Amino acid sequence: MIGVPVYNFGIPAVLKGWIDQVARAGATFTYGDGTPKGLVINKKVYLSIASGAVFSEGPYKAYDFSEPYLRAVLGFLGMTDITVFRVEGTAIPDLAEGALPKALASVEEFAF
Ligand SMILES: Cc1cc2nc3c(=O)[nH]c(=O)nc-3n(C[C@H](O)[C@H](O)[C@H](O)COP(=O)(O)O)c2cc1C
Repeated sequence: MIGVPVYNFGIPAVLKGWIDQVARAGATFTYGDGTPKGLVINKKVYLSIASGAVFSEGPYKAYDFSEPYLRAVLGFLGMTDITVFRVEGTAIPDLAEGALPKALASVEEFAF
């Protein structure tokens, strides 16, 4: 489970720092046979991504670097079974109040 806010269109530096410590050739991935292979396998990952704007759809979808990056780097390490829950629009007056209830409802609806 990773809970992460969107900071300046990406992930916070502290999470990037953690990834940089965890991604280690020979420990969490290998290029042993010439192609990259993740070594962190059989893991279920839940990502909870909070953002002031809406990135999962609409005009800012092209600026959604957080989810694609996390899916890419975690997948590179072998974690491909990733479920994402998003709390979006926390900075948009019309959406802010409903952002968390909407996100919680999406968790309730998910078949764990
Ligand atoms: C330094 C900083 C940068 C942020 N940059 C963005 C951003 O680029 N896009 C966005 O939608 N929200 C941005 N936000 C808003 C957060 O993503 C938003 O507040 C989110 O709900 C974080 O959850 P929290 O308030 O519970 O920490 C930023 C917030 C901070 C503090």
